[in-house]
Amino acid sequence: MKALWTVAAAAIGAAAYGLSRPGVRATLREDLDTVRRRDPAATNDFVSLVSYPGMHAIWAHRGLHRLWGNDTAKVPARLMSQAVRTLTGVEIHPGAQIGRRFFIDHANGVVIGETSEIGDDVMLYHQVTLGGTSMEQAKRHPTIGNHVLVGAGAKILGPVVVGDNSSVGANAVVVKDVASDSSAVGIPAKVRPYKKLTSAEAGGPNADDTRSKYADFELIDPAIWI
Ligand SMILES: CC(C)(COP(=O)(O)OP(=O)(O)OC[C@H]1O[C@@H](n2cnc3c(N)ncnc32)[C@H](O)[C@@H]1OP(=O)(O)O)[C@@H](O)C(=O)NCCC(=O)NCCS
Repeated sequence: MKALWTVAAAAIGAAAYGLSRPGVRATLREDLDTVRRRDPAATNDFVSLVSYPGMHAIWAHRGLHRLWGNDTAKVPARLMSQAVRTLTGVEIHPGAQIGRRFFIDHANGVVIGETSEIGDDVMLYHQVTLGGTSMEQAKRHPTIGNHVLVGAGAKILGPVVVGDNSSVGANAVVVKDVASDSSAVGIPAKVRPYKKLTSAEAGGPNADDTRSKYADFELIDPAIWI
């Protein structure tokens, strides 16, 4: 019981110290805005703050990734990432590089390998794996560009590249590069460039009719209605 109180006091102390720093407060605001933008069910920041394990896993990863950069702290970083996995259901290797406004919805069962690189504004759903196919200690996990959506259950395997503004369909298995502005669906995933919108579909006479269907996918993402 005493140990529990000690852990709780340490967590409250760390949270208070973090919130006293303007940079941390700005990042927290950005994270909460990201949840609202990505999940129409999120309407209350306090509820988001306490009930999104995907967001908690990302917070922990940011600290553990800094620890990982220090050779003497690699073992504790790895052990703590396993504790985070137990608490959140999300396993992110502390070596993985992740950009801003990253969001994992429903969170459970997500695995992100050591040499994964993830750009800004990327969203994953539950049961996604960014995994390796080789046992070599080299770049062996995927590189995900900016503004990418990865559907529930998708597996992206090996050092493949998923280009900017692309989406990977639910349950797809991606083993080859995915070009920018494309979707990849099926097993093994087939890559198709996005359809272009006509002027009328794009919403008016001044609309750009060559715009990718998903240029603004965070607002029209079909997954968002689920
Ligand atoms: C891939 C995805 C982003 C849609 O991309 P899109 O380019 O708009 O694709 P469309 O809906 O126009 O469908 C294009 C084709 O792919 C097929 N397709 C779409 N998603 C698919 C999937 N996950 N697996 C297999 N085929 C799929 C469609 O049936 C369609 O086939 P057709 O051309 O033979 O008719 C979307 O279907 C998806 O899987 N989103 C993830 C949703 C998710 O995980 N939600 C979890 C909520 S809890």
